[in-house]
Amino acid sequence: MITFGRKVLVVDDNLEFVDLVRRILNQREFIVSVALDGKTAIEKALLEKPELVVLDLKLPDISGEEVLRRLKEVDKDIAVVIVTGFGGEQVAVDLMRKGAIDFISKPIDHEAFLKSIENALEIRDAQIEDKRSNHYSSLERFFPFLAHEIRNPLHAISGALTIIRKRVNLKDEILKQSITIIDDEVQHLNNFVQECLNFVRPSNLIRFTEIDLNEVLSIVVNIISHTYDLESQRIKITLTQDSCLPKIYANYEEIKQVFLNVIRNALEAMPEGGELLIRTGQIHGNPRCVEAVFIDNGVGISQEKIPYLFQPFFTTKQRGTGLGLALCRRIIEERHHGKIEIESQENKGTTVKIELPVGRRAGER
Ligand SMILES: Nc1ncnc2c1ncn2[C@@H]1O[C@H](COP(=O)(O)OP(=O)(O)O)[C@@H](O)[C@H]1O
Ligand SMILES: [Mg+2]
Repeated sequence: MITFGRKVLVVDDNLEFVDLVRRILNQREFIVSVALDGKTAIEKALLEKPELVVLDLKLPDISGEEVLRRLKEVDKDIAVVIVTGFGGEQVAVDLMRKGAIDFISKPIDHEAFLKSIENALEIRDAQIEDKRSNHYSSLERFFPFLAHEIRNPLHAISGALTIIRKRVNLKDEILKQSITIIDDEVQHLNNFVQECLNFVRPSNLIRFTEIDLNEVLSIVVNIISHTYDLESQRIKITLTQDSCLPKIYANYEEIKQVFLNVIRNALEAMPEGGELLIRTGQIHGNPRCVEAVFIDNGVGISQEKIPYLFQPFFTTKQRGTGLGLALCRRIIEERHHGKIEIESQENKGTTVKIELPVGRRAGER
């Protein structure tokens, strides 16, 4: 199992033990965080979203059982491995009934400890994968069929429209307007179906490769400047790239799709023109992540709407699908284990920040 970059929280008040565990885990390139008591453990679980917690049963403040319960409240899928001192096995077994995956006794054996951690992570991954396929499977099966049934007639309508355009007298204003309406609606429906399909389509992990975010962004900005008439819309895009950016292991097409969606949203937020700054870089103090930041000075969005932005079908646009950001989140967070965040101020602008882990971890499952 590749353990590079997987997040582990070690909860124990014994500094010597914490040190030992940290050394073992660091050797396997886990990202290790430590909490010396239960309260800190819950706070860190909320903030850092660890995938696995190594939990000592005897903590100075809250009981191990209570910490386990609260950890599970924070994240149902969090993998918890209990560490017990002499004689704590009975309680540990009881906690396994309450959601812990495994327990190990102190003093720990390095190999057995690592095995237990890997095993727990594998169980967690399998649970998440199961849920995902259960959750989407009927939709995943049905939607491509539905999309096909919608698109075929749309193609036919487009074709017929081209013929009508050639044959009729376009000096007739009402006729001309009617044709434009049909054309717009057909295009809208086509886009809608495409976005739904993108959203529903399951990930294809085989296509994970090493990619350079700078390169993807240059390509995307190029596509955008060809499809949008930026000059007449008085929109300026400035791309600042960190030339030392490490490569990431990701699905190229999906990352491209995310950048396209985010940039489109920014352009749509600047109907009167404006400026979009795009910057890549490494995250201060975290060499395992890279980021791409998109800052526009468009219409922005009010604070109370921000929690809904990533929900499927949430849109404030008359012709929006509300699927762009939902898809971005699926791609970045579920498939690449990264993070996407939005900050905005009405009438000032919006910042979208995307973080992605460096190295192989993102594509491995
Ligand atoms: N750069 C932005 N500036 C202002 N609002 C934004 C921006 N990006 C997204 N939004 C808001 O988030 C909503 C959802 O975006 P998205 O999921 O892409 O769907 P859509 O673009 O189809 O509306 C948008 O309708 C808009 O209200
Ligand atoms: Mg959008």
